[in-house]
Amino acid sequence: AAVTEHQAESASISNGLVESNHAGYTGSGFVNYDNETGAYVEFTVTAATAGPATLSFRYANGTAAGRPVNVTVNGSAGVSVAFPPTGAWSTWSTAVATVSLAAGANRVRATATTSTGGPNLDRLAVDTGTSGVGRPA
Ligand code: GCU
Repeated sequence: AAVTEHQAESASISNGLVESNHAGYTGSGFVNYDNETGAYVEFTVTAATAGPATLSFRYANGTAAGRPVNVTVNGSAGVSVAFPPTGAWSTWSTAVATVSLAAGANRVRATATTSTGGPNLDRLAVDTGTSGVGRPA
């Protein structure tokens, strides 16, 4: 299966900031969602053929509560991804979702669904040709 990696700090960000003040991120930083519903990070993901893909989001959540996010592909209804606490803002974990991609470019958007916003998001790994099996982001 083909895996591509996408840094959140290089994605399209609506109501969030690129920061680097918590250790352990990859690339040049991570996205700190604003603490509000509707903030999002949108990745452009290219698939050779239409079909299922496993999305593995590398993130940190240093609070005691989940930071659920709705993940849509090309404006679809979407799937909720939980992003539970990781114990510290410098402790990174992976949250996984399976979606269907179209052939060509896809808009994969992760939108905060609570007033606390999303987690701190480091990167997205996309594995095409698999279904339901995660991998470390
Ligand atoms: C803290 C933390 C941020 C985080 C924020 C939040 O301010 O330093 O990195 O994004 O909490 O609750 O979202």
